[in-house]
Amino acid sequence: MTRKTSARDALVARRGPFQEALLAWYRACRRPLPWRESPSPYGTVVSEFMLQQTRVATVLPYFERWMAALPDFAALAAAPGATVLRLWEGLGYYSRARSLHRLAKAVAPPGELPRTAGGWAELPGVGPYTAAAVASIAFGEPRACVDGNVVRILARLTRDPARHRDGASASRAFAPLAQELVNARAPGDHNQAMMELGATVCVRRRPSCPVCPVRGFCAAAGAGDPEAYPSLEPKRTERLSVVRVWCERGGAVLLHRNGSGARRLADLHELPTACQAGLDPARACAGPLIARKARGITRFRVLESIHSARPPPGRPGPGLVWVRIGDLGSIAMSGPHRRWTTQILLARKG
Ligand code: ADE
Repeated sequence: MTRKTSARDALVARRGPFQEALLAWYRACRRPLPWRESPSPYGTVVSEFMLQQTRVATVLPYFERWMAALPDFAALAAAPGATVLRLWEGLGYYSRARSLHRLAKAVAPPGELPRTAGGWAELPGVGPYTAAAVASIAFGEPRACVDGNVVRILARLTRDPARHRDGASASRAFAPLAQELVNARAPGDHNQAMMELGATVCVRRRPSCPVCPVRGFCAAAGAGDPEAYPSLEPKRTERLSVVRVWCERGGAVLLHRNGSGARRLADLHELPTACQAGLDPARACAGPLIARKARGITRFRVLESIHSARPPPGRPGPGLVWVRIGDLGSIAMSGPHRRWTTQILLARKG
């Protein structure tokens, strides 16, 4: 018998006590998050969309603002796209906002809410994780959620010796075990307990094993090497340089508005790249440097430099718009560009 099989089998054999220990801890120690304190199917859906790839602390103010402005599926379905985008501004991964809007339009008629993960998975923007989360939390279906947090917990519990190509393939590999461990009497709390454990105790670096409620079930904690799991192939990253320009004329700033059909950041305004502004990047680079920014976008390490530039002559090219500085607050911008624009305008004042 392999080490993996034995640790996995031992865990499954003790799944009852494992579930009890996890649930008791969750019910005593969980963070009082708004979507947990006054739960509703709508609040669950909104929170799960916002929490895709985003941390709880980041989501909290967005969730509160969103629920105050658009309190139910009907209000969301009736809202203009620009309102939805503005409420999402800064959260990133904007296709989530558009999918959520389309989802609301699909389910807004009363009595149309699906109750199973299969039903939810047919709606816009709902992947297997979100479908399982909504079906288990809002409708009590015993369906396991599997994401990076859950993979990390299960890989440590079983001291999983496999090397996984990436997070998605690790999630697939652990889906059957996650499903075997779901507590059918409290699937929503079980899934949220796993999320909570991964976010607060079984964290990637320096996990808090001494206070872990399921330490007695954990092969890696027993061996003292939890940080070795899961084993993932290193990500290949690529470097990318982008030259952007800051053009100002008569109290207005030149911005680029992404088309509605754009795969990323549709309808959002950003500082234009030199190319979008119709300027030669090499020449724009020679202009005064205002700011240099580095950020990670998917597998790219993107280095962006923003240079002051003379506005291109003539009418603005495709996607370009002059926005009066006083009107910047009422348009939707991507989060980093909003921050950069604010910083540049503040620095200029000071
Ligand atoms: N991450 C994804 N879903 C979550 C939830 N319901 N609570 C906390 N973190 C989460």
